[in-house]
Amino acid sequence: MKTQYYTASSLDGFIATEDHSLEWLFQLGNSNDTSYPAFIKEVGALAMGSSTYQWMLHHVVKAGTGAEEAWPYAQPTWVFSSRSLPSVSGALLHFVKGNVRPVYERMRQAAGDRNIWLVGGGELVGQFYDAGLLDEIIVQVGSVTLGAGKPLLPRRIAFPPLSLTSARTVGPGFAELRYDVPRK
Ligand SMILES: NC(=O)c1ccc[n+]([C@@H]2O[C@H](COP(=O)([O-])OP(=O)(O)OC[C@H]3O[C@@H](n4cnc5c(N)ncnc54)[C@H](OP(=O)(O)O)[C@@H]3O)[C@@H](O)[C@H]2O)c1
Repeated sequence: MKTQYYTASSLDGFIATEDHSLEWLFQLGNSNDTSYPAFIKEVGALAMGSSTYQWMLHHVVKAGTGAEEAWPYAQPTWVFSSRSLPSVSGALLHFVKGNVRPVYERMRQAAGDRNIWLVGGGELVGQFYDAGLLDEIIVQVGSVTLGAGKPLLPRRIAFPPLSLTSARTVGPGFAELRYDVPRK
């Protein structure tokens, strides 16, 4: 089992614009053409920060619109926030804050022999990295630059560097890069 950061990024290292838009991403291709369908089958637990959760509420669940959709993940999801956020009916959500390590232990138990998916954002993934809990980074690098936005991973991981294990073209829209993260 691994703790994986699976995400899409612009070529210049942003996972969303400054105002949390992902419009740039959806023009680039369909996630079903990527490794995502195989990846998600192996996921046993998810973690995300509050901006990502609120993006999901707005754009996927469409909370409060009268045309609500179901939460897309069957696996339990841990949402990190210092605030009190609305839940989603039928979703296995745990709202947590602070140190990632005790949360990781609970996620580990829930995931069993499957993987933990760190959905984002980058600073939360950085907290898992700081705790020595990040094993792999899988990035769909989109064929755009954004100039500014929400960072992919605001940490310096350089000595030793990441280890590139795979590089693959996904149509004209993406390059999928996989890295093992060195143990600290
Ligand atoms: N390109 C992609 O594939 C992709 C993937 C994932 C996400 N995204 C997008 O990227 C953006 C990421 O936003 P973001 O950079 O703001 O990151 P985020 O992790 O989604 O949200 C950050 C917020 O999470 C809360 N948080 C983080 N760590 C915490 C901790 N240890 N304890 C308590 N709360 C904690 C804090 O908010 P509060 O305490 O104020 O609640 C913090 O401001 C979103 O727009 C998301 O939709 C894109």
